[in-house]
Amino acid sequence: MARVGIYPGSFDPLTMGHVNIVQRSLRYFDVVVVAVLNHPEKRAMFTPEERAGLIADVFTDEKRVQVDHFGGLLVDYVRSRGADAVIRGLRAVQDFEYEFQMTMMNRRLAPDLDTVFMMTDEEHFYIASRTVKEVAKLGGTIDGLVPEQVKAAMFEKLGRSQ
Ligand code: PNS
Repeated sequence: MARVGIYPGSFDPLTMGHVNIVQRSLRYFDVVVVAVLNHPEKRAMFTPEERAGLIADVFTDEKRVQVDHFGGLLVDYVRSRGADAVIRGLRAVQDFEYEFQMTMMNRRLAPDLDTVFMMTDEEHFYIASRTVKEVAKLGGTIDGLVPEQVKAAMFEKLGRSQ
């Protein structure tokens, strides 16, 4: 049976850190489902549909990566997909408390469901969607921080040419 990992998140937008986590996860899962939280936020740069579209574009050549949306509880979504585990990325220590709380809450809701943590590459450990958006908005370079398709979409949103 194919091992399926669900990689949930906001992905507003997908960064090279996220890409790295997906690539690492493919070593341990046959299929990785990148699951975008279906929660339109006022401060978001992209709609959930746009985020999913960009992710699908970035992984178009990787048939073992699927893209989906989810709403409601993550554990319900994971069950509905019949998946084996949740995948989350860890950067620095500051991620730990938030991830620990979420994992414990999910475990309480679904005791059989495990969350697998992947540590990002050292070159990605400081990259966050929030900071990438801020730098892009303020005119800084985001080369190498997000995939080219994402950079182009961000620049289009911001009316930036380069
Ligand atoms: O990229 P993010 O914003 O850190 O991802 C957070 C996400 C989407 C994984 C988390 O907010 C989530 O699972 N939301 C679904 C609601 C849920 O299940 N909440 C209970 C766990 S605290």
